[in-house]
Parts: sequence; C-alpha cells; structure tokens
Amino acid sequence: MTEEITAAALDPERFIEEKVAEIRRVVGDGIAINALSGGVDSSTVTMLGHRALGKQLKTVFINNGLMRQGEPEQVVGFFRDLGVPVDVVDARAEFFAALKGVTDPERKREAITQTFYRDVFGRIVHESGARYLLQGTILTDIDETVAGIKRQHNVFAQLGIDPQAAFGYHIIEPLVQLRKDGVRKLGKALGLPAELFARIPFPGPALAARVIGEATPERIETVRRATAVVERWLQGSGAFQYLAILHEDRVTGMRDGKRDFGQQIEVRCWDSVDARTATPTRLPFELLERIASEIIREVPGIVSVTYNIATKPPSTIEAV
Ligand code: XMP
Repeated sequence: MTEEITAAALDPERFIEEKVAEIRRVVGDGIAINALSGGVDSSTVTMLGHRALGKQLKTVFINNGLMRQGEPEQVVGFFRDLGVPVDVVDARAEFFAALKGVTDPERKREAITQTFYRDVFGRIVHESGARYLLQGTILTDIDETVAGIKRQHNVFAQLGIDPQAAFGYHIIEPLVQLRKDGVRKLGKALGLPAELFARIPFPGPALAARVIGEATPERIETVRRATAVVERWLQGSGAFQYLAILHEDRVTGMRDGKRDFGQQIEVRCWDSVDARTATPTRLPFELLERIASEIIREVPGIVSVTYNIATKPPSTIEAV
C-alpha cells in the first residue's frame, strides 16, 4: 500500500527536498529520461526531475497525433521559457498504425501503452542510454487500476508488468503518494506557471480517450476541433475538467435542408476535487446552447450535441 499525502498535509519544500535526494540516490551518475505531455503530473515531475538531475535528465515530448490543437508547440515553449530543453519526437504514424481497427476501450489503451513504452519510448530510451524513467503516476491512477475500473496508461507494477524485464528500464514514480490537488500545490512550488500547474487534467491516452470506437486521424481531428470549442468557452469557468467526446452512433440530422446521418458530440464538464468522484457542473443553459451551435458550425459532420448529467461514479470522467 502506498501511503497517501493529502494536499493539506503536503509541505512542498520538504517533499521536494526528500524527492530530489531520493532521485539523485537512485540515478547516481546515470542518465534518466522522462516523457513530458504538458499535463499537470508530467509537467510537475519534469520540474522535479530537472531540479534533481539537471543535464542528467533528458526530457522528450512524444507527438502521438492525439494531442489538442497547438499543444506540442505550446508545451515545449513553456518549458523553454523555464530553461528546460525538450526534444520533440514525431510518432504520429506509429500511433495511428497501432490504433487502426481497434475499438475496444481496454485494447485501445493497451495499444497506446505498448506503442508508447515498448516501441517509441523504448527506442528513445535505448538510443539515449538512459536506465531510469521518471514518471508522474499519481495515487488515483493506481487506485483505479487496482479496482479494475480503468487500466491507466502509466501503471505497471499493479498490472504485474516488470518494466525492467519488459522494456529494459527502471521506473521512478515520485508523485505516487499524491492526488491531483497535491500535485498542483507541488507544481506551483517548483516554479511552474499557472498555465501549467492550474491546467485541467488531460489523460495519458489523450484524445483517444475521448473517441468511442476507432481512433482514426479523421475522428481524432473531429474531437480535437470540438475540444477547442469546449475549452474556449469553459476556461475560467472554475470547473475541474471539461471535454468533448465523439460518439460512435450516428444520428439523423438535417443539413442544408437534407437528411444527414451525422456524428454526435457529448460535452462533459465536471466539478471535482481529486477526480475520484465528480458531479456535472450546472452550466447555464445559454452557455450550453452557445457551445452547441459553435461545435455544429465549426466541426464538420456533427449534427448533435449533448451534455452529460450523470455523476462519477458510476460514470468516469473520460469516456474510454
Ligand atoms: P476517469 O476517466 O478514470 O479519470 O474518471 C480520472 C482522471 O484521470 C485522468 N485520466 C488519466 N490520466 N492517464 C492519466 O495520466 C490515463 O490513462 C488517464 N485516464 C484518465 C482523467 O482525465 C481524469 O482527470
């Protein structure tokens, strides 16, 4: 059992000091590597690792083709400003090849995990000579994997996978006692700008977690555009997380006076403290109408927009 440190109990300076010493002790004069996605967890672990290891830490941003609009450029730019160099690796073709024809949620997560850790990251680690992988796994990821709710992208031990044997590297997970609110507090103390530590959570499998059914480049582009609309309207709403989901079912609609058997976007907006439980935000109906009409105008093929009003549990925050 991992011992939880609540956000209230977290003393960021002491935590940083302890983790920096621990990371240095484990890595020694070796090389560590970490993958930055720009999410709160991976951004915080990047800063912590950089504080501990400086040039001994190599940070890569893997462009899996599943990120939001302009995200690779934006994230790399933030870290450049913080003095942390990040290498961008274009792996879009590999991810879409692995996702081709895959519709089952767990198989989709599995395809992304395997492509990420075994193929793309495995290759990068091998080429870099790094023996250590620094990862931003948090306690909620472990809870949900253990409970069998969802196989989290970044949990190995709980799945019975030995990363040393499977991928040839050792994993360091310094955030594993924290939940999202604790990670934000830590990220702030590490000097991350609010754009990063206060960012809404974004899952490891990225937009593929928001496409029900096959995640093709076209379907990812559809949910990417809808996500941009939702984020534009809801940033500053104070909600914990907001997102767009592309459904697999087609629904009858009308476009230009003709029947159009089109696609469906579901908008979700959550109030939550730590993602373990969540309730839908009571957004004003006028705002929902504005979001819906903009999605229909800006996203080709969408004829229906719905708003989720179910709580977590039994729902989950993401759809896949
Ligand atoms: P769910 O959908 O399980 O999500 O209610 C709980 C929180 O975790 C995020 N999430 C993930 N984060 N890897 C991550 O690092 C993942 O595979 C993953 N899946 C979901 C989700 O966005 C929410 O904040």
